[in-house]
Amino acid sequence: MAVKQKDLRIGILTSGGDAPGMNAVIRAVVRAATHFGIRVYGIKTGYDGLFKGDIEEMTPADVSDIIYRGGTILKTARCPEMVTEEGQARAAEVAKVLRLDGLIVAGGDGSFKGAQALSKHGVNVMCIPATIDLDMDCTEYTIGFDSAVNTAADAITCIRDTSSSHERCSVVEVMGRNAGYLALWCGITGGAEEVLTPEHPLDTKSVIAQILKNRARGKRHNLIVVAEGVGGSDALAKEIERVLGIETRSTILGHMQRGGMPTATDRMHASVMGYMAVKAIHEGETNKVIAYKNGRHTLLSLKEALSAKTTYTPEMYEITKILAI
Ligand code: ADP
Ligand code: F6P
Repeated sequence: MAVKQKDLRIGILTSGGDAPGMNAVIRAVVRAATHFGIRVYGIKTGYDGLFKGDIEEMTPADVSDIIYRGGTILKTARCPEMVTEEGQARAAEVAKVLRLDGLIVAGGDGSFKGAQALSKHGVNVMCIPATIDLDMDCTEYTIGFDSAVNTAADAITCIRDTSSSHERCSVVEVMGRNAGYLALWCGITGGAEEVLTPEHPLDTKSVIAQILKNRARGKRHNLIVVAEGVGGSDALAKEIERVLGIETRSTILGHMQRGGMPTATDRMHASVMGYMAVKAIHEGETNKVIAYKNGRHTLLSLKEALSAKTTYTPEMYEITKILAI
């Protein structure tokens, strides 16, 4: 049974790609820590800042007016040294010198692996899933996903207007790394005729055959969403135009999907998960992930979380196909 801790000091860092809602996590962590009488330190630029000891104590006033802001006030980075044994040992040493009783890491799968490495060197880590990709098997939600889907869906809606006016085909590439969640959600919510994901890549011939079928049914414009894990949206657009003679344009949405105001859903998950991470440290829990499962926020052991199996739902892909008729 975990025992409540006294005179604690904790650190918080954001790592990997930024995600809307990371600021709401930082706010929740600082405010919850203050509530529990814990001193909290913000670590700049992810693991990079940990190496450099680039940290500053934070107070509730430091996190005023950030709940609605995109990005992360602590900054973030990808830090190659952290992937090496030597780097991990050094980072853990810094955490010990800084006398951190707990380290809260908000980031994706890679950041969690970094945290796991630190835990093996005796650092107590609490991980909060934050990535627009939703590509983490241990949780049904990652902070930033909803905002990214909404941003991309807005952009797709704009593209749809012009595509419809010109009776063109539009190919829109969205982020998501090696996973198709973002593309699937963008496809369904954007009313796409076809979605290409790493899990269902589809070849160019099948896409062209589908467009022909759609034309035969009277559809004058087509919207194809492509996940970055499939890529090749420019080449696909050129091939559609070459084979079918239908004007086709491709758009890669890129980093605009990572910016912007977090949605209320992201702020909510961020606030609850940030609070839970601090409470867990206060209660003496060690090396956990704050996950969202079956409609509830829950603590998982980091080991269990990193060995979880995929939750990809093939039904969602089927729904896209059916609704595109
Ligand atoms: P995300 O956390 O969004 O998945 P990355 O995969 O880029 O983003 O990981 C963020 C950082 O986490 C990396 O720059 C690195 O510092 C650390 N990291 C990634 N993979 C590992 C690993 N296998 N072991 C230790 N640290 C890692
Ligand atoms: O993990 C978030 C993400 O935006 C992915 O969707 C994308 O593959 C990657 O980060 C892009 O990384 P960077 O900002 O380093 O180009």
